[in-house]
Amino acid sequence: MHFQWYPGHMTKAKRMMQENIKLIDLIIELVDARIPLSSRNPDIDELGKNKARLILLNKADLAEEKWNTAWIEYFQEKEFSAVKVNSKKGGGMKSIQEVIQDACREKTERDRKRGILNRPVRAMVVGIPNVGKSTFINALAGKACAKTGNKPGVTKGKQWIRLNKNVELLDTPGILWPRFEDQTVGLRLAFIGSIKDEILQSEELSAELMQFLVKNYPGILAEKYGIEESEDGFEDLRGVAESRHCLLKGNELDLEKASKLLLDDFRNGRLGRITLEYPEEFA
Ligand code: G4P
Repeated sequence: MHFQWYPGHMTKAKRMMQENIKLIDLIIELVDARIPLSSRNPDIDELGKNKARLILLNKADLAEEKWNTAWIEYFQEKEFSAVKVNSKKGGGMKSIQEVIQDACREKTERDRKRGILNRPVRAMVVGIPNVGKSTFINALAGKACAKTGNKPGVTKGKQWIRLNKNVELLDTPGILWPRFEDQTVGLRLAFIGSIKDEILQSEELSAELMQFLVKNYPGILAEKYGIEESEDGFEDLRGVAESRHCLLKGNELDLEKASKLLLDDFRNGRLGRITLEYPEEFA
């Protein structure tokens, strides 16, 4: 699922996107609800200009509800249609079809005025790797017709999934690159497991995450691991290693094991619903 974006991959992905975009009316853009802006492709607004747009905060089950609401308002203020979804459980799917119709209302209306009736709205799902594009397509289409684990920008013969008489969905999602240059963005993508952990040592990464959690979600580490929370992330990590008996030979603390455990607990929602970035930052 992880892959490096070499310039060649990006050019190809962009070309595929430019090609596919000509065929569609609506871009369904998936972002990760825990980092709605850091998980966006930097060029999507340019690529998708003149198209109807819908932003889905996917993995909403892993993010804090009040921030899901705040982010939806943030995007709506920017004139996007936006809704939260849990593609894994299928939550929010029923309303999606209506939102899709809504997002395309202008176009359907334009068609109607030109005497074009009953032309289905054509849509495509796009997003950076691992935001849940394939899971979403499967959930929306109701059967396993979208393969998981796609390669960047590869379209295997265009096929349309007919969702109902009004909407058709391109079966292959558009895989887009994340924003690379910004370190904060990179860190957040690494927290959710969207870029390779090796980019930062996993100990550094988990120490950073723990610092964030102590500051923004005080008490959850203490409750989960029985540690005394400190502002020093490495101290907290040592606490987790002790409490979870992550030990090397000679009883030295195995910080790497502890950090993997922590990241895994976080990524799978076992630390609770956590949002990593907030609209105020981007106001
Ligand atoms: P992609 O096409 O955008 O690359 O993403 P994909 O659908 O492969 O999903 C990536 C991972 O995210 C999968 O987990 C998938 O189950 C999970 N996922 C997708 N949508 C949601 C959601 O709304 N909530 C939660 N909690 N998880 C979601 P995985 O670890 O690769 O596989 P598995 O855990 O399903 O076995």
